[in-house]
Amino acid sequence: MVEDDASDAELIKHALRKDGLLFTVERVETSEDYLQALDQEPPDVILSDYALPTFDGYTALTLAQKMHPEVPFIFVTGTMGEEVAIETLKNGATDYVLKIRLARLAPAVHRALRETRERADRKRAVEQLRQSHEQLRALSVYLQHVREEERMRISRAVHDELGQALTGLKIDLSWLSGRLPRQLNALITKAREMSSHIDETIQTVRRISTELRPGILDHLGLVAAIEWQANEFQTRTGIECKVAHALNHTIMDENLNTVFFRIFQETLTNIIRHANASRVETDLYEEEGRLILEVRDNGRGITREQISNIKSIGLLGMRERAALLGGDVKISGTPKKGTKVTVSIPDAATPRANKRHHENSYSRRSRSGTTWFEANSRR
Ligand SMILES: Nc1ncnc2c1ncn2[C@@H]1O[C@H](COP(=O)(O)OP(=O)(O)OP(=O)(O)O)[C@@H](O)[C@H]1O
Ligand SMILES: [Mg+2]
Repeated sequence: MVEDDASDAELIKHALRKDGLLFTVERVETSEDYLQALDQEPPDVILSDYALPTFDGYTALTLAQKMHPEVPFIFVTGTMGEEVAIETLKNGATDYVLKIRLARLAPAVHRALRETRERADRKRAVEQLRQSHEQLRALSVYLQHVREEERMRISRAVHDELGQALTGLKIDLSWLSGRLPRQLNALITKAREMSSHIDETIQTVRRISTELRPGILDHLGLVAAIEWQANEFQTRTGIECKVAHALNHTIMDENLNTVFFRIFQETLTNIIRHANASRVETDLYEEEGRLILEVRDNGRGITREQISNIKSIGLLGMRERAALLGGDVKISGTPKKGTKVTVSIPDAATPRANKRHHENSYSRRSRSGTTWFEANSRR
């Protein structure tokens, strides 16, 4: 309580007691005592006169705001003009009560305490929500990582162990058929059939291994893997798929490669399933220390509702993957013109060049130096 008049202080305490409040009061008159009191332990509520001989309520309010903004501050004053009252409320005062209307004080204190409690509860709830969101995100990072590791492991095991075992079988079979007497025609034919069967199985093993995780991604880098995937896509779907890039370094960062590659795959899957497109254009370039992948199709165009639909798990997964590395995914669509997906992720290896200079050099490159890689169909 900031109050210089002892009898006013008694009246104030009386008003609070009458309402059944249990409390202790520390009364101060000077700014030194006030600061010391605030320093020791923040009170539950501050009641302050406005005009004091050596101190003033406005300064008291400012100091309280600075030191304990969560503590409610109520002016209890003999006079306070309406304008001053509004001004103090704007500056953070909780309420003001005139000394001639002390009956209002206890309700004002009750309300202030309740609001403070609610604010604290809300703050706690927001904090808990934030924490649980963070935990979920960490879990999602972990799951993605584990899944990718597992795929890599299975892919290698399938490729190396099954692949080698099959190759061994093929060699043995060829040894065996070389020693079959010429007159045993039926056996020779059978051996030939078995051999071609083994060849097909080797192809299947390769395909399964590559679908799990293309080795090209880890051995030749992102650009090669994107081009390979575009090629596969074109062969499989008949939808023209072009890749252009303007990168002057090979992207070999495992996490970055995984994120870009998986988002690219999800984008292509969406194009097959939803776009009804006849052509896909992909650009890979760097800008301002970020690596950017842009995929445009000429299909029906994704709608605003589909983009913001919380049930769009595929899109959510793409965004989460990019967010893991501090990046983002922008999606836009124009009806009957197509859909554009832009993935942008910071890349430590990408030079953070002067913007203007960089833009110039990129546009120069894309006019002359960039080549469109026609994905050549195997069919
Ligand atoms: N290239 C596209 N062209 C047109 N519409 C698209 C395109 N990509 C996505 N959409 C629309 O956005 C929706 C959300 O895509 P999202 O990938 O999240 O879900 P999905 O493909 O339907 O299911 P999944 O969770 O299996 O990926 C799709 O259902 C589709 O309507
Ligand atoms: Mg999808």
